[in-house]
Amino acid sequence: MYRTTPPVIRREDYRPAEFLIDQADLRFELDAGQTLVEAELSLRRNPAAPRGDGDLHLDGEQLELLDLTLDGRRLPPAEYRVDEHALVVRRVPDRFRLRTRVQIHPSANTALEGLYVSGDMLCTQCEAEGFRRITYFLDRPDVMSRYRVTLVADPARYPVLLSNGNPAGTEELADGRRLARWDDPFPKPSYLFAVVAGDLALVEDRFVTASGREIPLRIFVEPGNRDKCDHAMRSLKAAMRWDETRYGREYDLDLFMIVAVSHFNMGAMENKGLNVFNDKFVLARPDTATDADFAHIEGVVAHEYFHNWTGNRITCRDWFQLSLKEGFTVYRDQEFSADQGSRGVKRIEDVRLLRSRQFPEDAGPMAHPVRPDSYIEINNFYTATVYEKGAELVRMQAGLLGPERFRKGTDLYFERFDGQAVTTDDFVACMEQAGGLDLTQFRRWYAQAGTPVLECADHYDADAGTYTLEIRQHTPATPGQADKQPLHIPFAVGLLDAQGRDLPLRLAGESAASEPTAAGVCTRMLELRAPVERFTFVGLAARPVPSLLRGFSAPVRLRYPYSDADLTFLMAHDSDGFNRWDAAQTLAQRLLLRMVEEEALSVPDSFVEAFRQALKEAPVDASADTQADPALLAEVLTLPSEGYLADQMDCVDVDGIHRARETLAATLGALLREDLLAVYERHWQPGAEAGDYDLSPAAAGRRALRNCVLGYLGQAPDAGIVALAQRQFDTANNMTDVIAALRVLLEMPVDVAGDAGERALAAFYRRWSQEQLVLDKWFALQAQSSRPDTLARVKGLMKHPQFSLANPNRVRALIGAFASGNPLRFHAEDGAGYGFLADRILELDPLNPQIAARLLHPMTRWRRYDPGRQALMQRQLERILEVDGLSSDVYEVVSRSLG
Ligand code: PHE
Ligand code: ZN
Repeated sequence: MYRTTPPVIRREDYRPAEFLIDQADLRFELDAGQTLVEAELSLRRNPAAPRGDGDLHLDGEQLELLDLTLDGRRLPPAEYRVDEHALVVRRVPDRFRLRTRVQIHPSANTALEGLYVSGDMLCTQCEAEGFRRITYFLDRPDVMSRYRVTLVADPARYPVLLSNGNPAGTEELADGRRLARWDDPFPKPSYLFAVVAGDLALVEDRFVTASGREIPLRIFVEPGNRDKCDHAMRSLKAAMRWDETRYGREYDLDLFMIVAVSHFNMGAMENKGLNVFNDKFVLARPDTATDADFAHIEGVVAHEYFHNWTGNRITCRDWFQLSLKEGFTVYRDQEFSADQGSRGVKRIEDVRLLRSRQFPEDAGPMAHPVRPDSYIEINNFYTATVYEKGAELVRMQAGLLGPERFRKGTDLYFERFDGQAVTTDDFVACMEQAGGLDLTQFRRWYAQAGTPVLECADHYDADAGTYTLEIRQHTPATPGQADKQPLHIPFAVGLLDAQGRDLPLRLAGESAASEPTAAGVCTRMLELRAPVERFTFVGLAARPVPSLLRGFSAPVRLRYPYSDADLTFLMAHDSDGFNRWDAAQTLAQRLLLRMVEEEALSVPDSFVEAFRQALKEAPVDASADTQADPALLAEVLTLPSEGYLADQMDCVDVDGIHRARETLAATLGALLREDLLAVYERHWQPGAEAGDYDLSPAAAGRRALRNCVLGYLGQAPDAGIVALAQRQFDTANNMTDVIAALRVLLEMPVDVAGDAGERALAAFYRRWSQEQLVLDKWFALQAQSSRPDTLARVKGLMKHPQFSLANPNRVRALIGAFASGNPLRFHAEDGAGYGFLADRILELDPLNPQIAARLLHPMTRWRRYDPGRQALMQRQLERILEVDGLSSDVYEVVSRSLG
């Protein structure tokens, strides 16, 4: 058994810091083996905090203390104490300077928190609590300090020396080393501190701010990647402009830098003036990155840039407030991306993610409120709930206020709290004040975990011409929260007439109806507050078809007894693009779940016809700008994922879900072969081979549609389809088309395709074996294969010379893709997948606990499976928990899952 249980941190225990650090002067003598860090801190008592025991408690982990002086006096051992987590200095004055000298070991740092080695460079990661692995400090976000940094290193190894803020000069030292100074004028919490040293290539551009300041923009990458920065740079400039026009936020330092590193636990990090990125969110060329990669880069570059105001200038009081910066910043990056491409498609993608990741989280053992009440390890709370549900909460407030008042609210927020560390409640208070509305009940969204369920019923009274909607809300119990209060829910509805047009809407008691817009849209935002709400619409000559929760106006599960005919009708006519897509999803989901239950069930003609109809509406001319947006159509034609279907079942039938999806796709592929081929050929870009690759959203949409169609054709393959996929694989000039063709070739049965899949895979490897991010795709494709020997193959790939447990991207590409992206093979009935994952977690935990804890997630939902699989997963979780010296990260996830 685990020896000691790591302590639980509670939100209610928050106390202001007893001391503040106004100024931090840091000097680094950088070296991969051992680095010396000298810190000179100006401390004073916090006037806002009650007096404690008079001792100063500084956080510090894995530091070797070499020297300690207070106001110039070296302290004798009797005046301080050091343990595993802290340096305690006894009886300090009210105001003093403390100087520490510590030694740290970057090359031994496999957790990638603090100062570590990535390839040939040195870099830091401090969020959430990594700064304490660099020096002794008050490592908490409500202590904001001004930093001056001096970096000293061997210029042969580390010619580029970077830190936050503005450059303040360099010097060549007599011993041959180089020194660089950086000065950050903006007080910041320690989690935003960063240092990078390396032999880095530079891509530079400029941005002129709204007030006319010219800001150099620098992207640093490993030499050899200079030709993959164009898209990130373009995205950065677009994001900077967007923040000025949409939020009135201008950049504040004299310089903005991004560094791409190959070893990174997360996506990217918003360090002040020096964003550090997982290189997969920077590097892209059309032949190495897919359209999805390009879109992610645009979104992440914008996200980190937006943090400069939402996170850095205004930060979190404590880590329970994480969604203050993350929820708001995700909302901002979602809206930015919506403005760059197709708003409708972006909303669908965001909701897909919310439903496939956050809903299951909110229904499982790790469920927690957007503002959690407690945690053991803060690194476990960078979750879909804090990020994606948090963004939905901001979106709902923006919807309740409307664009003008929301902008007033954000202006007020920036004005009132600039330079401070605040709470989600402070944010809501600004919305409340600027919007002139009462958000008391709305605040429960931050405090209450679980996804609310809305049960809708309706009644049409032909004599009176009235239509009544009755909506009941309830939120299921979650761990530690048995009783739930009703929430304030914005619920957008429209009513369709028999021709599929939006009807004017008039609620009982209103003097006039709201009329459809010029585009034919008539949506009403209803507000739900009580457990049951009724709304009666008047003046309706016939029974309407309701279009409910338009645009997904709230993160809820909606239940309404639509007939299949209603759904087909909405899929064809709803003026709300999101709901057209959602109707198609619901239709497919229902059919698939029925097919899971009744193995012999055949696909109804009506379903095939609805698909045929959708395909017919595909634009004839690939370049025509029609309402049938190919990207949107591709979304409509995409079946709900296995994971999403699993979330809809009380007891997950892994094999049944896979079989149903395959059967449906194969049926559609066979019955609609001619229609699918027609769409495919129409969208085959002859120029694609010639090299004029087009990155525009429209062109990406056509590729998405064509590859979606190819996927269906591949499910009902013959020699012609094999040739089609082979042609695409051989001739495409972009990674989107190459990888889509490769996936199809790999999944086709050997009796039809022979060894075409294996040959293509080998060719792909030969071409890309030196391109690390492309190689990740090669690993992931194999890990996600539905072939029965996939686990054996994954085990073999663990021994591949290019595999390494030390690289999180590689671990995610192989182990993560298998465990989270291949339910069929991971959940194999014999439990071999579970044993494999548990072994890997135990191997990884001592190296990198964050990654180990994240990999665990597919097993945390063990209770939703059949008794056999439950027992097998439970056994593996227990086996992990019995190991001595588990990290707090893995301990927390496993113990909560079993609890
Ligand atoms: N704050 C980062 C972001 O979302 C995420 C992150 C968290 C990165 C912790 C590293 C460590 O933008
Ligand atoms: Zn963020």
